[in-house]
Amino acid sequence: MSNKSPHTSVMLHEFLGFFKEQKVSVFFEGTVGAGGHARALLEAHPEIEAYVGCDKDPESLEIAKVNLAPWKEKVSLFQGNFADLDVFLEKKGITAVDGFFFDLGVSSMQFDTAHKGFSFSKEGPLDMRMDPQGDLTAEDIVNTWPENTLGDLFREYGEEKGWRQAARAIVFARKKQKIKTTTQLAEILMETLHQRKGKLHPATLVFQALRICVNKELDAIQEALGKAIRYLAPGGRVGVISFHSLEDRIVKNVFRTASYLSREEKRSGMTALLKLLTKKPLEAALKEIRFNPRARSAKMRFAEKNLV
Ligand SMILES: C[S@@+](CC[C@H](N)C(=O)[O-])C[C@H]1O[C@@H](n2cnc3c(N)ncnc32)[C@H](O)[C@@H]1O
Repeated sequence: MSNKSPHTSVMLHEFLGFFKEQKVSVFFEGTVGAGGHARALLEAHPEIEAYVGCDKDPESLEIAKVNLAPWKEKVSLFQGNFADLDVFLEKKGITAVDGFFFDLGVSSMQFDTAHKGFSFSKEGPLDMRMDPQGDLTAEDIVNTWPENTLGDLFREYGEEKGWRQAARAIVFARKKQKIKTTTQLAEILMETLHQRKGKLHPATLVFQALRICVNKELDAIQEALGKAIRYLAPGGRVGVISFHSLEDRIVKNVFRTASYLSREEKRSGMTALLKLLTKKPLEAALKEIRFNPRARSAKMRFAEKNLV
């Protein structure tokens, strides 16, 4: 098998930049995917002793295993949710980590795999589970949830202005025939949201909402970052790339809270847990976006654990 990745890693240069001056012995990555960021970091830091990574998607991990084979003595990969990072670290007997990284969302190879059901332009089952053992599919949601709950989902997780129409159209359509495929759902949304101006396909935000819900994506970020901050060694760094405002808001809030000190706390000489390395999130350079349009919506935030 070739070690070429079917996914182009986003903001790789910036990611490496945050660890350039760091000595990295132990690293944890929550979103290994095809192993693009992992490979670049392992190449740049021969001093790494343990690279622990996880991904919900077993198919992606198989590709990562091939891509990371040259470092197989140092690399431990787990299939599972990054919210369980403490469990994976415990299994390796690790109590402190020099760097954490989360490159959120879905990879291009997942989008391109029709049977996973992430893409409205590829005919496939309405699945959307990153983890094929997950207990909820997009088909379950679309065919069984009441109209008002669907509407709330599209409004909250999709920030879809036409949430009411989308929910109504789905409930109307499913009375006639069960909605089973991505293209079936995309057509229903196209018919009802077709007047929307702008560049987005009318199905984009509803598909985003379903994917976030199926994979419980937002809860996992909050939980994982809390754990990562606890495991970070003093001077260690944690970074996240997010791809929509709901994710970025969580990252921003967790980092802000952990780097905040009240006036009294400052006066009494306390040190905050984190120091922000990116007051505003970094975005991909234009030349990267030209080459990889997926980088267009990427926002990168990094923070460092303070020495106490
Ligand atoms: C953007 S891709 C990562 C690509 C990777 N950085 C690379 O360069 O090849 C995001 C990956 O995170 C995984 N993922 C998303 N949420 C997850 C979670 N809560 N736990 C574990 N993996 C998750 C997805 O399955 C996907 O493979």
